[in-house]
Order: sequence, then C-alpha cells, then structure tokens
Amino acid sequence: MQTHRRVLTLDEFTIQELRQFPAATGELSGLLRDIGLAAKRINVEVNKAGLVDDILGDAGSVNVQGEDVKKLDLFADNQLISVLRNGIYCAGVASEENDDIVVFDDEVSNRSKYVVLMDPLDGSSNIDVNTSIGSIFSICRRVTPLGTPCTLQDFLQPGVRIVAAGYVIYGSSTMLVYGTRRGVNGFTLDPSIGEFCLSHRRMQCPPDGTIYSVNHGNYYAFNPRVRDYIEHCQQQKNYTQRYVGSMVADIHRNLIKGGVFLYPGTVAKPQGKLRLLYECNPMAFLMEVAGGLATDGVRRILEVPPTGLHQRSPLFLGSRSMMETLTGMLTR
Ligand code: AHG
Repeated sequence: MQTHRRVLTLDEFTIQELRQFPAATGELSGLLRDIGLAAKRINVEVNKAGLVDDILGDAGSVNVQGEDVKKLDLFADNQLISVLRNGIYCAGVASEENDDIVVFDDEVSNRSKYVVLMDPLDGSSNIDVNTSIGSIFSICRRVTPLGTPCTLQDFLQPGVRIVAAGYVIYGSSTMLVYGTRRGVNGFTLDPSIGEFCLSHRRMQCPPDGTIYSVNHGNYYAFNPRVRDYIEHCQQQKNYTQRYVGSMVADIHRNLIKGGVFLYPGTVAKPQGKLRLLYECNPMAFLMEVAGGLATDGVRRILEVPPTGLHQRSPLFLGSRSMMETLTGMLTR
C-alpha cells in the first residue's frame, strides 16, 4: 500500500525546531506564526484583486518614500500591524508605509524582546496587472531594556543583528520563505487546509547561475562599472535576463535557480530605490544563509550601519560565483 508522506505545517515545523533547543522560549516561533496568519489574510485580499472594486488602485496618498500608496499596501500594513499588536511577541514595528515606528506601548508588548521591520506589500505597482507581489520582513532582538517601550534604537540595527527574516510571495502559489541562522525553509500555502506547508526544505542558492535581473531601462543612468557587468552578462552565451520589477519574485526565482539581482544607484538616485531596512537587509540575510552573497557594490549589505528608518541602498545579491565576478568588476 502506498503511504503518503505527511507534510509539516509552519507551526509543526517551528515546534520541531524548538524541541531541539529546550532553553528556547518559543517567542520567535510565535512571531512567525503571527506573521503567517497576517500573510494568509493578505493573500485572501490579493486573490480578490480584480473582483472587488475597492481593492485595486491608489489609496490617494503618497508614502514617506514619495510613492503612490495602493489600497492593498494599506490593507497589508494594517493586517500585519494589528496581528502583531494583538499578539504577545512583538514590542513594535517599523514599516515602509509609516513615517515613524509604531510602538505597542502596553505591559505585555513592552516585555517582548523582538521588533519587526517590514515592507507589507512590495512590488505594489504590479497589483493592478496581476503580477507577483510580496511581503518582506525581518526580526531583530531589541537593544533597549525589556519592560520599557521600544525606541528607534531598536530598529536602527545593522543587518548582522537580524535574528530571522523572510518574505511571502503571492504568485502562482503563495509561499512563505523564512530563514534563521540555521537555514532557509519555504512553505507553500495549501488552500484546502489554509496552512503553510513545508515544501522547500533547507533552501540553498546554487553557487553559480545564468540569470541576471536588472532594470535595463536605467542602463544609461548606471555607472560605467555596472554597465560593464551588464555587458559581460550579455556576452555569456548561456545567460538570460529576467526582471519582473517585483523584487520578491525576482529574488525568489534567482534563489531557486541561481542568478544575480541588481538594483544599482543611478545618476539621479545614487542610493537607488530599495530601502536598506525593509528590503535589502532581509533579502541579504536570506541570501547569505542560503549560501549566496549580498553587497551595496562595495560593502556587505548586512554591515551597512543604518542612519535612518527609510534610508535607501544600492543592492546586488545572488549566487556566490556570479557575485564574485560582479563585485570584482565593481571594485577594480
Ligand atoms: P513598488 O513597491 O513601488 O512597486 O517597488 C517595487 C520595488 C522592487 O520590488 C522592485 O525590484 C523595484 O522596486 C522595481 O523598480 P524599477 O521599476 O525601478 O525597476
């Protein structure tokens, strides 16, 4: 008789991991569970886009980055904040959608040792055209004393201090990928039971690849070294260019298949577009744990000292061997 391998849900997996560390408090697992719950709620709304009038389109405001805010951006932001606020594992949140940190200043939250940094809905300019989008998060241990409200200091930590990070991709299926220093694992949402189930165990970015992902429209605004690298890619017979314009989708593909993702600075925007704390750091953390590399062209992303919540950074990340060639060309 054929026996079916039983899949592990996200909760079962985090509990199994916990069992290996009897001293662990379970707070990080609880936080991941909360984020998974918010992701499922966001997923339901994302799937309704196109059917329900009040989901698509602009919310009519501009965020702190100067970008049009979409209705789904706000929905995702509210869902994540409300789940984390109602939970007992998070002291506060920094979100790309909010100018300032959100401090959950109550007795229970003040005792929580973690803060969450997030881009609730990345790639949101793709919502209206039914292309993959994602939520990105990282979790840091706070540096201020437990029992007090968290402060900005807790959020302005370099990426090397990240405890866990991940993303949710709302694509042809919905996946939650998260990593701790022990490894990166991917969970696919099984809509029949409404649970994220372990589908990609111990994800490793192939050490080499053939995909390069960059916005070619900016080619003439890139510095000559970046252009040289793009030309180098064009000269490789087996290389192919893929760019969705939704970093979660681009990086997810490259993480699985092998490749590099580039969002360099331009003449007009030397620091590029992506935010260090909400986009670059979590993705760099995951990529490094999965065996890849991530830099801002010169420095390891995870070592860049944050000076402001919404600071931007150029980003280059992906397969180790391709990244070595790229950084060699950028720094020669
Ligand atoms: P947004 O959330 O405003 O759609 O931005 C998406 C981000 C990132 O996900 C993507 O890689 C990048 O911006 C694309 O920017 P370009 O259109 O400039 O290439």
